[in-house]
Amino acid sequence: MSLRLVSKWQIPLVVAVVLVMAPVVSRADSPADLFVAQCAVCHTMSAKDPMRQGPNLGNVYGRKVGSVAGFAYSPDYTKANFIWDAKHLDAYLANPASVLPDSYMAYQQPDPAIRAEIIDYLKQQAPLYVDGK
Ligand code: HEC
Repeated sequence: MSLRLVSKWQIPLVVAVVLVMAPVVSRADSPADLFVAQCAVCHTMSAKDPMRQGPNLGNVYGRKVGSVAGFAYSPDYTKANFIWDAKHLDAYLANPASVLPDSYMAYQQPDPAIRAEIIDYLKQQAPLYVDGK
């Protein structure tokens, strides 16, 4: 049978596919992994998941600051009046108290490239979590 011939032909194809996939599959710090490693200890994405120390973040990109019902924000969050966009998120993730002075979010990310990756991820996720659900 020509099975041997067929599999011989397939080898370069399989090698090519593996080479193309390798960087994607083996990359440890995908944006989703970054979120899990850096944020998920305190934040879930969906309002359907039990609340952790911080409010859910699935739809935070484009959401009004301090607006998750039932979350006990520090007063500056509910007094503030802005929408979480890339500019606000970037300053906030670098140093939350620089945006909202009474923040007790215990997180700071000094690396602008990591902040940008997390912000892009939040922006991509937002349409999937309408009303935080
Ligand atoms: C150690 C826990 C902790 C970690 C880690 C943490 N956060 Fe928070 N986050 C909080 C808390 C607590 C608040 C509310 C703070 C307050 O009310 O003073 C908050 C609030 C926020 C808010 C404001 C949300 C709103 O509804 O206005 C954003 C945005 C946010 N966090 C993003 C992030 C992102 C993105 C990460 C990861 C890169 C992260 N946080 C990591 C605890 C954390």
